[in-house]
Amino acid sequence: MKLIVIGSGGREHAIIRKLKENPEVTQIYALPGNGGIAADATCVPIGATDIPAIVEFARGNAVDYAVVAPDDPLALGCVDALEAAGVPCFGPRKNAAIIESSKVFAKNLMKRYGIPTAAYEVFEDEHAALRYLETAPIPTVIKADGLALGKGVTVAMTREEAVQAVREAMEDRKFGASGERIVIEEYLEGPEVSVLSFTDGTTVVPMVSSMDHKRAGDGDTGPNTGGMGTVAPNPYYTEAVAAECMERIFLPTVRAMKAEGREFRGCLYFGLMLTKDGPKVIEYNCRFGDPETQVVLPLLESDLLTVMRAVTEGTLADCEVRFRDAHACCVVLASRGYPLHYEKGFPITISEEAGPHTYVAGAALREDGALVTSGGRVLGVTAVADTLSGAVAEAYRLAEGVTFASRYCRTDIGQRALRAGR
Ligand code: AMP
Ligand code: GLY
Repeated sequence: MKLIVIGSGGREHAIIRKLKENPEVTQIYALPGNGGIAADATCVPIGATDIPAIVEFARGNAVDYAVVAPDDPLALGCVDALEAAGVPCFGPRKNAAIIESSKVFAKNLMKRYGIPTAAYEVFEDEHAALRYLETAPIPTVIKADGLALGKGVTVAMTREEAVQAVREAMEDRKFGASGERIVIEEYLEGPEVSVLSFTDGTTVVPMVSSMDHKRAGDGDTGPNTGGMGTVAPNPYYTEAVAAECMERIFLPTVRAMKAEGREFRGCLYFGLMLTKDGPKVIEYNCRFGDPETQVVLPLLESDLLTVMRAVTEGTLADCEVRFRDAHACCVVLASRGYPLHYEKGFPITISEEAGPHTYVAGAALREDGALVTSGGRVLGVTAVADTLSGAVAEAYRLAEGVTFASRYCRTDIGQRALRAGR
């Protein structure tokens, strides 16, 4: 079988490694992939949002199956276009990807179907939003409606911050058209849990839960990033919480999407806050999370391609999806200064031992064949062990086998989970 995987991050690297375990897979093309992914797949320089070129490539190379991993091509209808060309895909169609690409859609869906989430108001007019903020409870949360490269959310601890966030989104158009509408929502407190799930539109199979570490600095300080590390499972996500989420959030969401004529097939990601009033949805993503995937997929025991095809074909109910009873930790190695200003182009060395545990995100192959840094998050190192403390220690030990100038990582990935687990 010939596969294409659309995307270029650590998440895509983890997906590709897992897909390769299936002996039926003869060829994987990564569009566009990156310098590290090139060791596991054939990278083709076609951008993840260049849908006509993606379709032409799939047709011209007799591709049997496509995995569309990032949010942008999903929101633009990449799956619809590939399906129209006869290529079966893993990923939601455009009309279902809206669950991530419009926060207003997601909030209204939850309200209509009684799915627990933060109380909210939608604004299309800046003056109305600012008037509302005069008496709104503080802290509050401001969200641009559309995709904003993960930067469209402001948790405002003061009224001034909230006013500034509204002005930046609606007046300065910091997020372009994504800020034409905004959501102002209730501030929720509690531990956060990420749950990725497989769903074929009817059946929903949650994967092992995980915990992201979004802030750049130790102790959850500094600016928000794309994720500095993850652990799985998340110790706050007990069996009782999982059962409640299935009944009150996962199944109702999948049913709601179907009832709306927007059947969701693919990976539906639930960003949850475990509040004192029960679990509530903070966000939906229409795709695998990054770097959650780098801890979830290494724990998947079942064959990923088999599960993905069952999702596409609507036969997930008959498919076994098994996870190892173990723990995983991913430590992201970034360029110092990320997510603000950082330098690139430094050669990377990866020890033989660390290699198979490394998922590359921001690295390119130089003309002389050397792997050099090319992004803020350079790569993630994942370890699996019987205990969480074992996985954390092993991930940091393996990470020492990866060197490059300006290498930066948090030193406390997994510590919060370890404290909670006690
Ligand atoms: P997002 O960009 O949607 O992933 O949101 C970024 C982060 O903002 C989340 O991971 C939460 O930590 C925080 N956040 C989003 N919504 C809320 C909320 N209603 N209350 C408190 N924190 C929130
Ligand atoms: N790690 C959060 C995300 O993928 O959106």
